[in-house]
Amino acid sequence: MKFNYLLLGITIITLSSFSKENAEEKYTRKVDIVLQSSDGEKLIAKSDCIGCHKMDKKLIGPSYLEIANKYAANEKNISYLSNKIIKGGSGVWGSIPMGAHASMKKDEAKTIAKYILSLKK
Ligand code: HEC
Repeated sequence: MKFNYLLLGITIITLSSFSKENAEEKYTRKVDIVLQSSDGEKLIAKSDCIGCHKMDKKLIGPSYLEIANKYAANEKNISYLSNKIIKGGSGVWGSIPMGAHASMKKDEAKTIAKYILSLKK
């Protein structure tokens, strides 16, 4: 009987230490992913873009891949797209307008535009 309790005790300790290890491992992996993602991705995640844009599917706005494939990655287009992100507008992809992001800094919008254009396949 005593032996059974001991066995049960050992099992519980072993199981609980396993689940702790798993949680730590998961946490470390998440941190790694965040560290790996580019600055442009982080800026997108901080803003409201996700409500209208997805990586590979049209939502309210075009997908990032569609945008990347439409524009060559050069200074002119980076400047054009970053202006558009800040000022908003419509008429390029349809009649639905994109709202302005007036509080976004020019540098941040440029970083996002570069990131989007880097997705070109
Ligand atoms: C309310 C929905 C909405 C939100 C929020 C939104 N967009 Fe858009 N976005 C659109 C629509 C609609 C278009 C297409 C506009 C057009 O046809 O000219 C667009 C177009 C774009 C384009 C392509 C512009 C062009 O002229 O080809 C880029 C780049 C872009 N969005 C980036 C972003 C980024 C970055 C954010 C977040 C900071 C964002 N959008 C937030 C709806 C949105």
